[in-house]
Amino acid sequence: MNAPWEALAAAVRACVSCSELAASRTLVVVGEAPPGARLALVGEAPGAQEDAAGRPFVGRAGALLDTLLAEVGVQRADVAVLNVLKCRPPSNRVPRPAEVANCRPWLEQQLDLVAPRVTVALGLSATRWFLGRTTTLGAVRGRLHEVSGRQVVPTYHPSAALRFGPEGAPLAALRGDLGYAVTLLGPSDPLAAG
Ligand code: URA
Repeated sequence: MNAPWEALAAAVRACVSCSELAASRTLVVVGEAPPGARLALVGEAPGAQEDAAGRPFVGRAGALLDTLLAEVGVQRADVAVLNVLKCRPPSNRVPRPAEVANCRPWLEQQLDLVAPRVTVALGLSATRWFLGRTTTLGAVRGRLHEVSGRQVVPTYHPSAALRFGPEGAPLAALRGDLGYAVTLLGPSDPLAAG
């Protein structure tokens, strides 16, 4: 992206704050942030494929995300894709509160650097990262929330959409919420487009 992002990425890659995760990870998945990204997606944590590739959302959930983004006219390459945790939890278990707390400064700094107009929180871990540890997705999803100056739209994780299948409620909700988030972006800045 740019020099501050690269410096931050190097610090994230060197992080060993969670000793269990640092010992079991293959690669740290820093996340991706194309210059000028106006939309950010925040997931939970890398899975097996992401851990092996060092990139976020490269597995089945990522493929679904790419399809849904394309449906609403957005290229994945224009979107910042980040996670609450940068290291894979063993067996894809849910991140522990201490791990989320250890990793929190990285995502805070990433969001400050990217400064997206809208951030979509994918699933409960990301939603709770923004809205608090007791939040339920049902209570908050599909609406815009302002949190510490950030515009956040919570929705289902693509893995939930895959689990419940093509006729399931999570896929319809995720599709609708991504479309809603894109409408909130407003027109792009012609100067930024060069
Ligand atoms: N699930 C996530 O939450 N993040 C990824 O990067 C991949 C799958």
